[in-house]
Amino acid sequence: MGFWDGKTVLITGATRGIGLAMAQNLAEHNASLILTARSREELDKAGGGLPVREDGLLLFPADVSDRDSVRRLTEAGLDKFGRIDVLINNAGIGLRAQVCDIRQEDLERALKVNLFGPLYMIQEIAPVFKNQGGGTIVNICSLGAVRPAPNIGGYSASKAALMSLAQTARLELEPFGIKVVNVFPGSAKTSFRDNALGEAYPGNEPRLSRVSPELVAGRIISGIAGGKNNVFITWPDKAMAFISGAWPGLADKLVSMAFKK
Ligand SMILES: NC(=O)c1ccc[n+]([C@@H]2O[C@H](COP(=O)([O-])OP(=O)(O)OC[C@H]3O[C@@H](n4cnc5c(N)ncnc54)[C@H](OP(=O)(O)O)[C@@H]3O)[C@@H](O)[C@H]2O)c1
Repeated sequence: MGFWDGKTVLITGATRGIGLAMAQNLAEHNASLILTARSREELDKAGGGLPVREDGLLLFPADVSDRDSVRRLTEAGLDKFGRIDVLINNAGIGLRAQVCDIRQEDLERALKVNLFGPLYMIQEIAPVFKNQGGGTIVNICSLGAVRPAPNIGGYSASKAALMSLAQTARLELEPFGIKVVNVFPGSAKTSFRDNALGEAYPGNEPRLSRVSPELVAGRIISGIAGGKNNVFITWPDKAMAFISGAWPGLADKLVSMAFKK
């Protein structure tokens, strides 16, 4: 029996991109799924195509930036399945603006979705996991959390805050058998950039290769099953994170080069 076989997994932001690719992958691994995003219509569309086993799927619209919505989601999941084994905090929103131009309302919204959303989810699910004797909390951060780049300062700040919060939760929850995993995707081919807050800054895109959401999902799913605390998607992502810690000046130079026209 594999790690995911028979597990109940709650994924936020599951209607497209990385979230939907993880749902697809987990359905193939025989997991039961609780999927959420704000749009009921998009949820129905996403859930309709999944090879999930009979009675193994709950589609429940929720806004992670709203604490009551998060509470209703968790209760609905427990009502249906009786337990939740893994929470994947995936819902997130981008923010593209140079630091001098960041609008306060955009940064507040990014923090609400990228930081407070996962915080509300963790605060709802941790007591459930404690009662069950364990569980896994996964936070989709970003490579930007450890290596900021031009135009994404506000977004990086929200993800660095999430990383830090989750690292602390790992220490606090470990005695209860609860594992906390942080994931640091680099750049993936999803609609994430089209939905970002702020300005797009066309023509100032870094020269980065974008990987498919399916590849990202596969690495996340196998990383969690393999017991990792931190999951990187590609070796250049991992190398960049290492260089940022060991030689931050060199990392600055590499990022500047990637942005040079
Ligand atoms: N794509 C990348 O290059 C990249 C790189 C690093 C990290 N990431 C992170 O990976 C995660 C997934 O990104 P993605 O590229 O798959 O993004 P995406 O294609 O834009 O999908 C985002 C998902 O989140 C949902 N969502 C947004 N706001 C929400 C809210 N307030 N409450 C509940 N659901 C919400 C969206 O559905 P609704 O709009 O219907 O709610 C959608 O299902 C994000 O946390 C992102 O920051 C992405």
